[in-house]
Amino acid sequence: MNNDRVEQYRSWFSRFVQEHAAGNEQDQRNILLKKTHTDGVCANALRISSGLGLLGRDIALAGIIALFHDVGRFPQYVRYRTFEDSRSVNHAVLGAKVLLDRNVLRDLPKRERSLIVRSVALHNVFILPPRLDREVRLHAEIVRDADKLDIWRVFIELADRDPADWPSAVALGLPDTPECSPAVIASLNRREMVRLTSLRTLNDFRLLQLAWIYDLNFAPSLRLVLERSVIEQLTASLPQTDAISRVVDNLRNYVNERLHAAIAPETAR
Ligand SMILES: [Fe+2]
Repeated sequence: MNNDRVEQYRSWFSRFVQEHAAGNEQDQRNILLKKTHTDGVCANALRISSGLGLLGRDIALAGIIALFHDVGRFPQYVRYRTFEDSRSVNHAVLGAKVLLDRNVLRDLPKRERSLIVRSVALHNVFILPPRLDREVRLHAEIVRDADKLDIWRVFIELADRDPADWPSAVALGLPDTPECSPAVIASLNRREMVRLTSLRTLNDFRLLQLAWIYDLNFAPSLRLVLERSVIEQLTASLPQTDAISRVVDNLRNYVNERLHAAIAPETAR
């Protein structure tokens, strides 16, 4: 694995995005959203893999997986004009298929090829399968954290703008009304993730995104949550109720507990 190879993949990705360019402004905004998202996920994967103290090969692999994780989004959008997998196709599986069909990774050893394809295919599953090759688990966990961190960036940037003016494919068509569903709040209070099928309002979707904090795998990712004030920024557009305050306190406590646990072995030495 060397830098030339990574550069070669970056050029392939740019050409692939170009191939899926849209003819009208609305569609092109959605395509560019995913291109910019990919850049953000790559930067996050680098921060996380370096923060974990991984070495060159694994840092490069984490970068390649981040670069390719959403490659399926482009054909998905061109074919179905949506990013909703439930209304179209599983974009992670489609991405893995693109990499295989186009033989993008032909110059890599089989083990690395399979690691990249499997991590891409697993990046969006609700929960990773319990039995997983150690290396696949590590890389799937890195890209899942890096992905969440950049989706938060997208929504934080959009927060100041009227949802009517958002790129059409980001808000799932949910109504921007003040309600938060009790079942969604209850999931967060149990420190559990929220399923897409339980969403009723845009606020529920904001809560679903906050619940991803409970799915983060690594201390460097949790540090980025603090550094970027993710909790404060995402909750700014939620109604200021007691129930929401409890959700926020719970999230803050959780992040602090995890980070404390992460440094405890060092301080104990
Ligand atoms: Fe994705």
